[in-house]
Order: sequence, then structure tokens, then C-alpha cells
Amino acid sequence: MEIVIANNSHRVYAETICETILQAAQVRGTGIAKRKPAYVISKMEKGNAVIALDGEKFVGFCYIEAWSHGKFVANSGLIVHPDYRGKGIAKQIKKKIFEHSRTKFPNAKVFSITTGLAVMKLNSELGYKPVTFSELTEDQSFWNGCQTCKNFDVLKRTNQKMCLCTGMLYDPNSNEAKQKTKVKEKVFKRLKSIKQTLFLKKDKK
Ligand SMILES: CC(C)(COP(=O)(O)OP(=O)(O)OC[C@H]1O[C@@H](n2cnc3c(N)ncnc32)[C@H](O)[C@@H]1OP(=O)(O)O)[C@@H](O)C(=O)NCCC(=O)NCCS
Repeated sequence: MEIVIANNSHRVYAETICETILQAAQVRGTGIAKRKPAYVISKMEKGNAVIALDGEKFVGFCYIEAWSHGKFVANSGLIVHPDYRGKGIAKQIKKKIFEHSRTKFPNAKVFSITTGLAVMKLNSELGYKPVTFSELTEDQSFWNGCQTCKNFDVLKRTNQKMCLCTGMLYDPNSNEAKQKTKVKEKVFKRLKSIKQTLFLKKDKK
């Protein structure tokens, strides 16, 4: 297994990556910001992505996006192929892309929005803290990416103040970022259920 910074030679995996992301969203029945192969390739070409391969087989992927003129970066599109889950691969990919982001954008705040417990756990271990959306980028092109998510109406209704996703932020200038925390599973599940009750119309639950 190799987990490396992706480059142009990995473009052959772009279709598979997009397809795997889409299928995962369908299985989870959750919202997703759709990605096109050309977009994934552009990330590879710029050295802004991490790919995991088992020989020639696709295993996992994640990429960096910069927002608000580089004041914020996000590590997006995390995916591990179903055959390889539960082996700590997402943890390794997240660590690699996080360190790469910190090297490329040392002054940027690193953020994430997610509905997934696995991602919340991974982010917390890296020093991200839960924050309100007002702490995240105001770059409208980031939020426009949510338009293809099935929960987009919630984000619209709340004037982008909140949604089903939880915002998480690593602030390199904060001492708190150095204190890594563990996500309490019970608290996360309770919060998720409260949000669903508040925001989702009955037919969406
Ligand atoms: C989420 C995903 C990336 C996890 O990949 P993975 O390689 O199986 O994850 P890891 O084995 O590295 O596990 C990392 C941590 O998350 C936990 N975890 C993994 N899958 C989980 C799940 N479905 N529910 C709750 N926790 C989970 C693990 O227990 C581990 O926590 P620990 O360190 O406390 O033991 C993978 O399931 C996936 O690709 N899912 C579909 C796409 C997706 O949801 N992407 C995230 C979009 S925000």
C-alpha cells in the first residue's frame, strides 16, 4: 500500500474516484458536493491531493482546496474504497493531506464541514475544534459547492448560518489547536438527532 501526493500520472484514477464518492453518498443517503473528473485531475496536477493505491488498485483519496485567497484551506472529498475500510487508511490519508496543507499553506486555517462521525474523530485527533459556520470561510464559492447536496435547502433557510454538517476548524494561531480531543460518540449522535429534528422536513428523515 502506498499513500502519496498525487500527480499527473494518477489522472487515470479520476473517474473511479468520482464514481466511488458518488456511490458512497448514495449508500449513506446523505448529501454530497459532486466532483467531476476534470476537477480531480486539476488537483492532482497541482500536487494538491493525496492518493492511496494497492499496487494499481485505487484505495483512497482526498484533496486540498484554498478559499478566501488562501486564508482558509479545506481537505475535501475524503474517500476510501469499500474493500479497504476499517483498516486505518482514512486516518493515514487525513494525516498526510493535513501535513501537506500545513506545509503548502502554513498560515491558513484548516476547516471541514461534515456529517460523518469518522471524519469528526479524524479531525479532532488532528486538533480541529467544532465551530459555528461564522468562523469558517465567507468565500461564497465554497458554499456554492453545497448546492448539489440534498440538504442544501436547510443551508438556504438558515442564511448559511447552520446545516446538518458540523463545522470544524484548525487554527494554527490558537493554542487550543495543540490540544487534541476525542469525539464523544454519544454526544455526536445526540447532536445529529437534534439537528435532524430541527432542520429536516418529515419526508427527508
Ligand atoms: C469515512 C471513511 C473515509 C472512513 O475510512 P476508513 O479507512 O474506514 O477509516 P479508518 O479506518 O481510518 O477509521 C478512522 C476512525 O473513524 C472511525 N470510523 C470509521 N468508519 C466509521 C463509521 N462509519 N462510523 C463511525 N466511526 C467510523 C474508526 O473507528 C476510527 O476511529 P478510531 O481512531 O477512534 O478508532 C470511509 O468509510 C468512506 O470513504 N466513507 C464514504 C465517504 C465519506 O463518508 N467521506 C467523508 C465525507 S465528509
